[in-house]
Amino acid sequence: MTDNKSGTHGAILTDTPPGDGEHPLVQLRNAGKSYGNVRALHGVDLAVRPGQVTCVLGDNGAGKSTLIKIISGLHQHSEGEFLVDGEPVHFTTPRQALDRGIATVYQDLAVVPLMPVWRNFFLGSEMTKGPWPVRRLDIERMKQTADEELRNMGIVLDNLDQPIGTLSGGQRQCVAIARAVYFGARVLILDEPTAALGVKQSGVVLKYVAAARERGLGVIFITHNPHHAYMVGDHFSVLRLGTMELSAERSEITLEELTNHMAGGTELAALKHELSQVRGVDVEELPEEEDLKASAAASPEGTS
Ligand SMILES: Nc1ncnc2c1ncn2[C@@H]1O[C@H](COP(=O)(O)OP(=O)(O)OP(=O)(O)O)[C@@H](O)[C@H]1O
Ligand SMILES: [Mg+2]
Repeated sequence: MTDNKSGTHGAILTDTPPGDGEHPLVQLRNAGKSYGNVRALHGVDLAVRPGQVTCVLGDNGAGKSTLIKIISGLHQHSEGEFLVDGEPVHFTTPRQALDRGIATVYQDLAVVPLMPVWRNFFLGSEMTKGPWPVRRLDIERMKQTADEELRNMGIVLDNLDQPIGTLSGGQRQCVAIARAVYFGARVLILDEPTAALGVKQSGVVLKYVAAARERGLGVIFITHNPHHAYMVGDHFSVLRLGTMELSAERSEITLEELTNHMAGGTELAALKHELSQVRGVDVEELPEEEDLKASAAASPEGTS
């Protein structure tokens, strides 16, 4: 008997190389997507490299989910190119993306709340022992492996027998990240993992985003929050109304500039004007339109 993953069914990949260094793991070139006559995404360029965190920021409806749905095989792009390891692909199912090592952790995690943590870790890819027809679940090995893998990522849970529903949202995200890493993900897509979390829990999730990067994965981190993005990001792409209005390396942009891009410059000024006419709202702290324009002009790709 082997002590590797031979007992698992449908484990993700793993005969694809970990990125040849020449091509990005995943790349979009001038990519776009229309739903009927709604153009949700247009002219998007994005590259994901091993050991890097690529942050995708944008307001509601900016096209973030559409972008990751293309990469994770749920939707197909209708314009431009989508390449994996430099080779054009058209995934028709999420399984095809998984087979190429692209794993997605959705915000509403697909877990069974009443099942133990270790069971959720192996959900759909259970380890078994014994020959058919007396093949049984290898519970001991699954528990031990889940425990080891969680510890490898620095996640210590007291009891893997507890139902996953009793873990906090942040801990559940962490289990999902460790699971993707174990099953051989090369690209990890996280859809707003910190959106519903408090400060401390968000910190925990960000720590594992960094841990996944340390293990050489290419991470796509979707978020509304420029502060969270800046804590772990190597590259920042800001979507607005379906187009990429900013794409900058960490060295090219400050947190302040990123925040201003997210705040949407003149839109924020318009909001301030509107709010100033509502009683009981203090708009003093919001920046003036001139300040926003000045800082947008000072940023590297100061488009508006
Ligand atoms: N299945 C669909 N059919 C038609 N239009 C869609 C569909 N999915 C998304 N859209 C439209 O595409 C645009 C981008 O939506 P998307 O969900 O990608 O935004 P988002 O950045 O993820 O927003 P949020 O922050 O609210 O999750 C929106 O105008 C949305 O209405
Ligand atoms: Mg979304």
